[in-house]
Amino acid sequence: MKKKISILLVAMMSIFIIAGCNTGGGEVSVGIVLPTKDEPRWVQDEARFKAALEDSDYTTEILFSQGSSAKEKENVETLLNKGIDVLIIAPHDGAAAGSAVEAAKKDGVTVISYDRLITDTDAVDYYVTFDSIAVGAAQGQYLIDNAEGSGVPLYLYAGAASDNNAFLFFEGAWSVLQPKIADGTFVIANSSEAEALKDKATLTRDELGKILGQVTTNWDPNEAKNKAQTNLTAAGADLKGDVAILAPNDGTARSIADVFASDGAVTSYLVSGQDAELASIQYIIDGKQSMTVFKDVRTLVQDAMGMAVDILDGKTPETTGSYNNGSIDVPAKQTDVIVVNQDNVKAELIDSGYYEASEFTGLD
Ligand code: BGC
Repeated sequence: MKKKISILLVAMMSIFIIAGCNTGGGEVSVGIVLPTKDEPRWVQDEARFKAALEDSDYTTEILFSQGSSAKEKENVETLLNKGIDVLIIAPHDGAAAGSAVEAAKKDGVTVISYDRLITDTDAVDYYVTFDSIAVGAAQGQYLIDNAEGSGVPLYLYAGAASDNNAFLFFEGAWSVLQPKIADGTFVIANSSEAEALKDKATLTRDELGKILGQVTTNWDPNEAKNKAQTNLTAAGADLKGDVAILAPNDGTARSIADVFASDGAVTSYLVSGQDAELASIQYIIDGKQSMTVFKDVRTLVQDAMGMAVDILDGKTPETTGSYNNGSIDVPAKQTDVIVVNQDNVKAELIDSGYYEASEFTGLD
């Protein structure tokens, strides 16, 4: 009798073990690699992945690359050794990540590029993203809608040239700002490259690269701060007064805003942002940052995990279009973005449950 029970137990246990593994062959079925813990944006993604995975049967692991392509490659290898079937990866450097995902493909893993496109390789199966052109266009449009008069000094800043998104954001912003530079509403304050191209409605990647080379922040708030200081030191009185600033994201927007706020000759500034970072929502409430573009990370996480689960189930994930990555057209699922300023910050970010009201002061 005892023996029968133990045989039964062993049999039952093996069924559980097999069931636990049926999503893949190894210990971890979905590997997630994010670029850095140093920016709240990506810590937010981690938190949203964890929340989404709480009740999931799938085993996942999240690793951070800390702004290093070498560390990123190592992370991918660690996950491959754990037997992942799907890799969700936001690259630190879009082109440098090619070799990491090529290793994954060789291992039979399906690769999903997350938020940032991995470029110049055919080893990317899918891309989940926000509408990044729309992000840049919303930033530029906000400056247009809120600037007064003409001849308004326009300070341009961009993200890292190693991030394909930095090109898309700038391209979107340029599409709306260029006509307003051409008609004299704005005067470019800090980029001779942009000045030289100001009559061109559409820029090539090379032309965008030239401007980015001059106005990049490398997504680093410190670098943004130094660049803003250098720009303001070089600017004459005609480039101060009421100014407009295209800042590519919240982290750089806050440090650029602080620099402009401390210049006595700047009477007012408009400054864009993106990510709806907690600290920037407080800046918006306090009137220190003009706007942000809210990219609901919950949706991006849902899309990425939905795709991963489809792949694990042997189904073809749904896509809404494609992005050329310099090598192939990558099937993509794209999500819309929401423009947030003082008027709708409560409705979009508190009432939607994204943040708690208690995380802010002065919110009414
Ligand atoms: C992301 C932004 C982020 C930036 C810096 C971009 O690729 O789309 O949300 O602010 O990288 O990390």
